[in-house]
Amino acid sequence: MNAAGLACRALTFERSTGGRLLDGIEAAFPCGRACLITGATGAGKSTLLHLLAGLLGPTSGEVWADGQPVSRWSAPHRERWRQMVGIVFQHLHLLNDVTLLENVLLPCVPRPERWPAVLGEARQLLERLGLGALEEVTPARLSGGERQRAALARALIGQPRFLLLDEPSAFQDDGRIEGVLGLLEEATGQGGCVVVCSHDPRLAAADLFQSRYRLAHGRLERCP
Ligand SMILES: Nc1ncnc2c1ncn2[C@@H]1O[C@H](COP(=O)(O)OP(=O)(O)O)[C@@H](O)[C@H]1O
Ligand SMILES: [Mg+2]
Repeated sequence: MNAAGLACRALTFERSTGGRLLDGIEAAFPCGRACLITGATGAGKSTLLHLLAGLLGPTSGEVWADGQPVSRWSAPHRERWRQMVGIVFQHLHLLNDVTLLENVLLPCVPRPERWPAVLGEARQLLERLGLGALEEVTPARLSGGERQRAALARALIGQPRFLLLDEPSAFQDDGRIEGVLGLLEEATGQGGCVVVCSHDPRLAAADLFQSRYRLAHGRLERCP
């Protein structure tokens, strides 16, 4: 299992309240590709992304990254691996007491040697996402769409190898979708592994996604 990218092997997750949410999922999300996962609310899309990101542990089965069983690794080892993961949470989880620019730079905090290089990159991402004039503003003073684009900039900073995006267009106007898709296309073009969970028809219509899956009844079915 040496394929570059993420993979699920017999991945199962049971709710703490009982019942199997994800039931033996088999899937591969290769590098250099964007994959779209759709599914009804409550199907388990966010849970699957958190498992892929190593933020949750599976009940059984594994998550593999670049041929390594990362879900089996000890927490400190997995934390180091997670520096290669950029994520947009469905509920964003921006820090409200610091500026947008500081939010975008957060993933680089453990690596201060990178700050000079990533500062320019953070400003460029904010500019491209229409947030250039807002870098010193705190998230609480922004619209939902602006906050979500800031979360996208935070996920993209440092060009992470694995990009996991949960409903990344939910708060975006039609005019912003193209810009978001363009950034994801660049990420796949640079060899990134992009997995997007969404039930936004505007994303489902995008050419960007070479693989499409539907999550239902705990299973991930490949769409034609
Ligand atoms: N650790 C957990 N314990 C109990 N219930 C959970 C747990 N994780 C998720 N759930 C429940 O599983 C369902 C699926 O959640 P989620 O992954 O957020 O679905 P989706 O993103 O597709 O809407 C929801 O009903 C949620 O409340
Ligand atoms: Mg969700």
